[in-house]
Amino acid sequence: MSMEKEKSEAPKVSTEAEGQPSSHLSRRSFLSRLGATGAAAATAGPLLGLAQTQLTQAQLEPPTVVNAGTIPISLRVNGQEYQLRIDPRATLLDCLRETLHLTGTKKGCDHGQCGACTVHVNDRRINSCLTFATMHQSDKITTIEGIGQPGNLHPVQAAFVKHDGYQCGYCTSGQIMSAVALLKEPCGPMDADVQELMSGSPHRWASQGQW
Ligand code: FES
Repeated sequence: MSMEKEKSEAPKVSTEAEGQPSSHLSRRSFLSRLGATGAAAATAGPLLGLAQTQLTQAQLEPPTVVNAGTIPISLRVNGQEYQLRIDPRATLLDCLRETLHLTGTKKGCDHGQCGACTVHVNDRRINSCLTFATMHQSDKITTIEGIGQPGNLHPVQAAFVKHDGYQCGYCTSGQIMSAVALLKEPCGPMDADVQELMSGSPHRWASQGQW
C-alpha cells in the first residue's frame, strides 16, 4: 500500500473525544444546557419575588427599636414628674429640648458662655448645657415655660414685654430666667450691680459660692 493510500484511509477522530473543547455544541448538549438555564430562571423568579415581598413587609413593619445604651430616669420639671429613658450622656439642656420638647430653653454656644440655656434648679439659675440630666433626678427644675404663660406672665416677663427687652429674641428666655433668679440673690442697689449679675455665666456665681 502506498503512503498516499494510508493517509486517505486513516480513521477520523473527533476533537471532542480527545477532550478538546468543541467549537460547536451538539444538539443534545445545547438542549441540556438550555433546560438547566430555564430551571434556574424558573427557580430564581419566585425566590426574588419572595425576597421583595419580605422587604416590603419589613419596610411596612419596622422592627421594634431598642434604645441601646439608654437608662431610665425621672425628672421633675415645672411641677410635673416625667419617667424617661435617655442617653446617660445627655445634658439637661438636650433632655429638656429634645426629649421633653420644652423648647423655650435655647441652645446658643453649648459651652457655658452665652446663658441662653439658663434654667432654675432648686430655684438657682444654672446653665443647662453644662450639666447632665441624670444629675438632677431629685431636683426641682424650672424652665421658662414654668414661670409664666401667655395671659399669666411672670412680672419679669411682663416687664420684658412692656420695655421691649427682647433684643434679638433668641436669648430672651435665658435673660428672663437669670433676671427672675437674680431677684432672690444678694445684689447691690446700683444698675452696675444688676448689670454684673446679668452678665456672663450664671454658673460662675454659683460655683464661687457668692449666693
Ligand atoms: S448654650 Fe450658651 S451657656 Fe448654655
